[in-house]
Amino acid sequence: MRIDVVSIFPDYLAPLELSLIGKAREAGLLDVRVHDLRDFTTDRHRTVDDAPYGGGAGMVMTPQPWSDALRAVAGQGPPGLRPHLLVPGPGGVRFDQAMARRLAREPWLTFACGRYEGIDERVYEHAREDLGLEVTVVSLGDYVLGGGEAAVLAIVEAVTRLVPGVLGNTGSLLEESHEDGLLEYPVYTRPSLWQGREVPGVLLSGDHQAIARWRHAQRLTRTAARRPDLLHAAQADAGLQLRLALPADVPELFTLTRACWVQEAQSNNRLDIPALTEDLEAVRASLDTTQTWVARRAGRLIGSVRTELRGDELHIGRLMVAPDLQGQGLGRLLLEHAERTAPDGIREYRLLTGAKSGSNLRRYRRAGYRPTPGEPAISGTVELVKHRRDV
Ligand code: ADE
Repeated sequence: MRIDVVSIFPDYLAPLELSLIGKAREAGLLDVRVHDLRDFTTDRHRTVDDAPYGGGAGMVMTPQPWSDALRAVAGQGPPGLRPHLLVPGPGGVRFDQAMARRLAREPWLTFACGRYEGIDERVYEHAREDLGLEVTVVSLGDYVLGGGEAAVLAIVEAVTRLVPGVLGNTGSLLEESHEDGLLEYPVYTRPSLWQGREVPGVLLSGDHQAIARWRHAQRLTRTAARRPDLLHAAQADAGLQLRLALPADVPELFTLTRACWVQEAQSNNRLDIPALTEDLEAVRASLDTTQTWVARRAGRLIGSVRTELRGDELHIGRLMVAPDLQGQGLGRLLLEHAERTAPDGIREYRLLTGAKSGSNLRRYRRAGYRPTPGEPAISGTVELVKHRRDV
């Protein structure tokens, strides 16, 4: 991959000679060239900025040096190849891991580092229309840096480590933050006891399945706590907060469960349903053995679902929506959320409902679940299965 960076502070880009990027350059995997914008000025003072038309604070970068620099860089490639021009700026599209993956597949990126109030807008049109470049303004986040250079360092590091061969151990690319929409699990190394703090016992158990389960649960908990926005895009729209249940949720969860399962009891003409007979302590204990998610809107607990991993199956249970809010798609949202939490290796989703719970059965059928053949383990119930599509 070829990378060009145009800046008025070429020294700012010196870290591109270090570490992984430096090694990848030496190995010929990356061809990085840094250019001084002032080399493309034509006046004695090497001027790159001027006052904004229309007034206002600060200075604007003038078009001529940019035009000359971009033309010179774009003309250096093999015939027919043009770089993708990336201009870091707080007004750009948000840079994320998905964009890093897309950029890592491109042969040539060129970065234009703006300073001051930005680059004269006509430079973007000129680059697109006269130089034939694809132009993307890209932002690291909702804050303002002094210029594009620090953003270039971040973007180049995120992109180039995804270029095949740059990272020695490609295993580190798996299961890392953002690769599958979840944050990373916590990591530990020797010593196992340090300043009175122990490494979680499961990591020393040698039980690889248990370790994988623990790590996955940690990723979910962390994501729910630190970045709930990653868990379900629809949450924000609906003002719905979806997170893992805490002990403080247990009393309300217990009450909601009872309210929801009365309908089940009526439909199936039986009261010996665990959801109706279990006590508060059993609900509390279930938080340790399952992943229980609670949905709140305006502070009120309005729904819940829980999952349990068994071998290559994800068992989904206790899917409930407050009786007065049913029929609005919340159940579907919770079910989809439960399915999305399945770690790699899960091949099917399973759930169970009353044999006479007509509306539940219809809903699950619409969501792709089908009854399993044979007798159910619990009489009067139907076991349903859905095969995961992405495996
Ligand atoms: N330049 C100034 N602020 C920036 C930001 N948030 N992201 C990328 N480049 C920038």
